[in-house]
This record gives sequence, structure tokens and C-alpha cells, in this order.
Amino acid sequence: MSDSTQDDVLPAEGNSKVLKMQSPMGIHDILPKDHEYFTFIKKVARHRFRQAGFRRITTPILEYTEVFKRAVGEDTDVVSKEMYTFEDRSGRSLTLKPEGTAGAVRAYIQHGMKELPQPVELYYIEPHFRYDRPQKGRYRMFWQIGAEIIGESDPALDVQCIFLVYKMLRDLGIAERIDLQINNIGSQKSREKYKEALVNYYTGKERSLCEDCQRRMHSNPLRLLDCKNEDCRILAQLAPKFEQYRTPEDQDFHRLVKEFLDELGITYTENPQLVRGLDYYTQTVFEFWDKSTGSQNAIGGGGRYDGLVELMGGPATPAVGFALGIERVINQMKEAGVIVPSKDEVHIFVAQLGDEAKKKCLPLIDQLRDAGIRTVGALGKGSMKAQMRLADKFAVPYCLIMGATEVREGVVIVRDMSKGQQRAVPMKDVVKEVTKLIGKENLDTYTPGEIAF
Ligand code: HAM
Repeated sequence: MSDSTQDDVLPAEGNSKVLKMQSPMGIHDILPKDHEYFTFIKKVARHRFRQAGFRRITTPILEYTEVFKRAVGEDTDVVSKEMYTFEDRSGRSLTLKPEGTAGAVRAYIQHGMKELPQPVELYYIEPHFRYDRPQKGRYRMFWQIGAEIIGESDPALDVQCIFLVYKMLRDLGIAERIDLQINNIGSQKSREKYKEALVNYYTGKERSLCEDCQRRMHSNPLRLLDCKNEDCRILAQLAPKFEQYRTPEDQDFHRLVKEFLDELGITYTENPQLVRGLDYYTQTVFEFWDKSTGSQNAIGGGGRYDGLVELMGGPATPAVGFALGIERVINQMKEAGVIVPSKDEVHIFVAQLGDEAKKKCLPLIDQLRDAGIRTVGALGKGSMKAQMRLADKFAVPYCLIMGATEVREGVVIVRDMSKGQQRAVPMKDVVKEVTKLIGKENLDTYTPGEIAF
């Protein structure tokens, strides 16, 4: 992942002679080295979700724009500034999904999942798109691991979400670097009085607020609490706290969340300013912060959203969920020096000279691969020297070599690359011999019917 923002200076498409052949700004290729991290993280996530009874869902990469406007809120940064929205050929407005909850809830309603045993526990591993300002850890296309528990209102489920994240972070070797921040922002109803108190507090201070906050002060005063602008932050610290406005039900809910977290030994920081950037939240909200840098680049976040299913046209249904940003998790793992196990190393390099040798090599390579031996064949026309240089680049422990003499004698040369020693092995025994050298435990075998995805 490159964090370069230098293509900021690229001219707009269409008026450019110099528009480079690059991926769009803030949108990156995932190169093989990073795929090792992606694969590992996805495996950990799938494993933990399966253990907890979650089922996977994939919603489309596009939704009708209204889905996000309704769910996330028109006044949020995500909807008002960051969506990739366009019209299809029939003039319908479509948007690349900026987050996963809206689509999951839309699917829950559309497919009548209310009829299933509740709660319905779904997870997704998907790319998302936000026209954000690119910088380290902030991209315009990014991947999320997300989960939604829809159909039950119990603080134990909020804690189950947090606990799942905690288990994954522990598996990934970064739990110690992360600080859990929690808050309770009450129900829509209990927030009304608080919103009034906030508007009263900010009235007369408008000139000290950033433009966004001036605009949001009346439509969504809660958002002023987590504005990153320095002056807004100072004002937010002195603003009335929601704590004084929580109803007894909110207080009970929050108390239980904390008690359950304590029971599971999860430490947390209570943060009365944490309100999250999406409008659908009620009651519990939480974020996972890097202990050293704080909220700028939360690696994940979530919370309860008891009003969303109804807001989107379904029956009144409570829900809670979370999402982790995969790129941010990878950045954390790299900073922590976590090395992921890789299955990309090649075991065997097959070198050959002449058409007859190549003929014999093709089925041999196939047999080796089927036996679980990761094999690369040099099937071009390169000299033996060039092929051996290539074998060095792959850093293989063993090389198989075949030329006209070996074909005639029915043998293959097996070369130990680190010792520089070699010997001839009968063609019929070579797969067995190589299997022994690589070690049964290192073979890359699979039975298609037995793979669980
Ligand atoms: P969110 O806090 O907007 O929540 O995003 C979740 C995570 O996605 C962030 O903590 C971050 O790691 C990652 N992320 C967000 N924007 C970017 C970006 N521009 N570049 C890189 N990573 C990014 C949601 O999306 C909610 N749908 C989570 C949720 C699920 N709440 C309830 N259920």
C-alpha cells in the first residue's frame, strides 16, 4: 500500500496530456506481499466468525443511493462529501458502498430474514469506497471485515461484538497495541433533550466553530463532539455531557455492557465524546484506537443501531455490529513486526533443456503439484544458466534438472541448492523422493470436497 498523495496534482481526467497510467488516487493495488497479510487476516476472521455461529453475506458493491442516504444520514461526512455516486443509463442514482451496515440491513428486510430464528448473525469481508482525503491509513477504496447481529436487544450482544474483535486482534498479534473506547449515546428519544442542551451551549460560540460544525450545529449537534478541528475540540471538551441526560434504561444498558466487559477481562476507556460518524447509532458505541496515536485512524468501530431496520422500511428490530479496516490492521501488524505465515514459497524448480526433456517435464510438474509440492517450471527457451539464475530468485531448496541424456536414461537430476550437491533419481521414483525431501507436513494438498470457505 502506497500512501503517496502526490497525484493530488494530476490534472482532471479529460484535459490531460500527462495523466499517468496509474491507479486512481487513494486506490491501491494489493501486491503479493500484502496479500499474505490479507489472506491471514481473512482466515482469522472467518475462523472466529464460524466459531461464533455467524454466516457470511455479500451485498452488491453498488446500492441505490437512497439506501445510504436513509441509513447513514444525509448530514454525515460520508453521505454529504465522500460517496462515489453516479447515474445509470436509466437515470437511477447508484452509489459504491461506503460502508456495509446499510446494505446488510437492506438485505435483511428484502429477504424476509425476520422470519429466521433471531438474532441473525452476518459477517462480510468486502471493499468499500469513500472519497476521503488520502493519507496513511486513509484510502478511497479500503477493505472491511464487518459483522451485524440483527434481531435482539441485549447488552451481552454488544459485548459479543467487542469480544470477537478482541479475539481477532489477539490472534493477529496486535491486541496489546489497541485501546477500546466506549460510550453510550442513549436512544433517539433520550437524545432529544441532550441535543437541545448542546445547541444552547454552542449558541453564541458559532464563530469559533469550523464551517462544517456551524452547518451541523442545528441539524446534528452531536457530531460537533467528535470534530477533529482544534478549536472545535476545545469547545467539545467543555460541552455538556450526555451522562447527565441518560434515562434509567440507558444507564442500566451501559452498566451491563461494562459489567460484561469486566467479566471477560476486557479493559476499556470511557469516552463521553465518542459519537461516531454515522447517524444510525443508539446506545452503545465503540472504537478501537491505536494506543499511541489515538482516534485519527481507528482500526475499527461499531455500535448498536436499534432504529435502523425500521427507518429503512422493516419492522422494529434492534441490532448491533462492527467493522474493522483491513489496511489499518495490516499497518498495525507491520509496525508491531508481526510476520504472517506464508504459503507462497516455492518448493521445487524444474529446469529442462530440449523439446524431449520439456515433453517429460510437463506431466512431471503436474504430478508434483498434485502431490502438494509447490512447483515452478522454466518452460521457456532460456539456457540452463539462465534457468538456474531464476531458480535462485525463487530461493527454492531443490531443483529438478532434465536434458536429453536424462530423458534417454529415464532419470531426473535432483539438486540440493544449499549444499550444491546433486544425484540422479529414476523418473518413476522422483515424486516420492521429492515428497520425502520437502516433508509430508509441508505439502500443500487439498481435497476439493473438504474445503470449508
Ligand atoms: P466506520 O467507523 O465508518 O464504521 O468504519 C469502520 C472501519 O473502517 C474504520 O475504523 C477504519 O478502520 C476503516 N475505514 C473507514 N474509512 C476508511 C478509509 N477511508 N480508509 C481506510 N480504512 C477506513 C462503519 O463503517 C460501520 N458500518 C461499522 C458498523 C457495523 N457499525 C455497526 N455495524
